Amino acid sequence: MRKRAGQSIGEAKDAETLEKVRVKYLGRNGELTKILRSLASRPLRERREIGLAANKIKQELLQLFDQKLSQIKAVNFRPGAGLDLTLPGKKVRAGHFHPLTLVENRIREIFLGLNFSVVEGPEVETEHNNFEALNIPNDHPARDLWSTFYLKDQQPETGGRKPEAGERKLLRTHTSPMQIRYMLIHQPPFQIIVPGRVFRYEATDSSHEINFYQIEGLMVGQNISLANFKYVVSQFFNRFFGKPVPLRFRPSYFPFVEPGLEVDLRLGDQWLEIMGAGLVHPKVFEAVRYNHQQWQGFAFGLGTDRLAMLKYGIDDIRLFYSGDLRFVRQF
Ligand code: PHE
Repeated sequence: MRKRAGQSIGEAKDAETLEKVRVKYLGRNGELTKILRSLASRPLRERREIGLAANKIKQELLQLFDQKLSQIKAVNFRPGAGLDLTLPGKKVRAGHFHPLTLVENRIREIFLGLNFSVVEGPEVETEHNNFEALNIPNDHPARDLWSTFYLKDQQPETGGRKPEAGERKLLRTHTSPMQIRYMLIHQPPFQIIVPGRVFRYEATDSSHEINFYQIEGLMVGQNISLANFKYVVSQFFNRFFGKPVPLRFRPSYFPFVEPGLEVDLRLGDQWLEIMGAGLVHPKVFEAVRYNHQQWQGFAFGLGTDRLAMLKYGIDDIRLFYSGDLRFVRQF
């Protein structure tokens, strides 16, 4: 029987025939199975002898089956068999940047191309840099424009004493304090941008977050005027959107610029407010001990989130901070 079985296995040409052979010998009612099953009713000595031999044959046959089966499979293999080329591909999930990072990186790139330097400042600021030096004294009504998160009063710097006006620490409400930090240790002419995170103590809705991102711009030199500003921002927006973008300049008020203005851009048939700007106020130059007869400059503050929303057609700023992967994975 061992011989017969071995021969049948060898002769099998396909998996089906091979399976029939397997059932014939090793199936539930197979010849070898029957022998093994009949052992129970035999005397012990026979049981041992026959059992040993039968089990050995079983192992050998099983091995032959396996070999034959892989052989048949190898012969039948055709590249592309069972491959459906019309199925959609599987998406490879690679790491990627957050939309705000993408937009900020693009902004950095464009301004570097316009010969601006990129600098960054701390998110925890002094009240002095965030307000006083920017011509916003403590009792100035314009402080209401920036609802502020103040840090606790007990700070090691003051030895536990209650800090005086200007000494208090806060979460910067805009990137403008970096104007002060930069000018205190650099001399004009220069042009910089300052990307960074800012904080406002406000109720949130689809267009307000308690933290968001800004890009501060500052250019100081001789005879810098609004004409220079207009050129730089229009270059920036045209490059950012990859087409000429109509801009509109409206008079506005910020204590640290004079004149102050707001810039709108037109996308489709809508005018959208996109940045505050103006010529650096003489008081600000005074605070950093620049001679304001000698130097002029422009400054602007651009909302990174706002720009990202326009670029990608996002209608709720809170999505950026939701941690919702269904949102983030679309970029
Ligand atoms: N810092 C202002 C804000 O956050 C924007 C701004 C910057 C306006 C620079 C004028 C000049 O609202």
